[in-house]
Amino acid sequence: MLQSARIESTADGSPTLYIPELDEHYHSVNGAIQESKHVFIDAGLRPIAQKSKNISVLEIGFGTGLNALLTLLEGKKLNLNIHYTTLELYPLPLNLAEQLNYPEVLQTKDENLFINLHQAEWGKVVEITPNFTLHKIETDFSKPNFETGNEAFNLIYLDAFAPNKQNGVWTQTVFNRLFGKTIQGGILTTYCAKGIVRRMMQQAGYTVERLPGPPGKREMLRAFRPGG
Ligand SMILES: C[S@@+](CC[C@H](N)C(=O)[O-])C[C@H]1O[C@@H](n2cnc3c(N)ncnc32)[C@H](O)[C@@H]1O
Repeated sequence: MLQSARIESTADGSPTLYIPELDEHYHSVNGAIQESKHVFIDAGLRPIAQKSKNISVLEIGFGTGLNALLTLLEGKKLNLNIHYTTLELYPLPLNLAEQLNYPEVLQTKDENLFINLHQAEWGKVVEITPNFTLHKIETDFSKPNFETGNEAFNLIYLDAFAPNKQNGVWTQTVFNRLFGKTIQGGILTTYCAKGIVRRMMQQAGYTVERLPGPPGKREMLRAFRPGG
């Protein structure tokens, strides 16, 4: 699927990938960094950090590693201990990841962190910094028993390709499984705002909010597992 992937620039000056076969971008063309910060950091990581300094994240779709990098950087600022598990069916070749200049756009002091995320071995828990461990799992999360390593997470980033691009991925079975992996009081956040997705989340047991979306998108969804 990645043979024809190409890097494109988005409106905030950060890059994303475009897959011609799916006619799909990895991020919003209105701003890749802007979208990831809005949906995953501001609507997910920051609120969870107010409840706990020890955070276990499950990401669906490691892709460019942008969410992982932003989470690592924000975790440093907020003094968090983060265990980050990420699932990916189509890992990017390293030479493609090396061309994504997120550290430069973000003006991070430690430029190696981004490439360290990509170089971390798949299937192993790797310490990227003393406060951030990464577990990349090559798996198909649409399969009923997708592998997630840890049993439960207080934060889930649902960042798969859009429902109209991937049949069989945004299903009730997947949401039921994700609900079972969310600890009470935990959050699942996604850029997707579709009514059918919101109803599947509710059916699984989540309480769901519609929040203003990032630039170019009216709404996004945030789901809580009640309790905790
Ligand atoms: C919208 S992109 C976002 C990726 C990433 N979060 C980022 O910031 O670049 C969706 C990602 O989900 C991955 N993906 C698609 N189908 C999948 C599946 N069935 N199982 C696991 N990962 C999948 C894609 O390869 C891609 O990396």
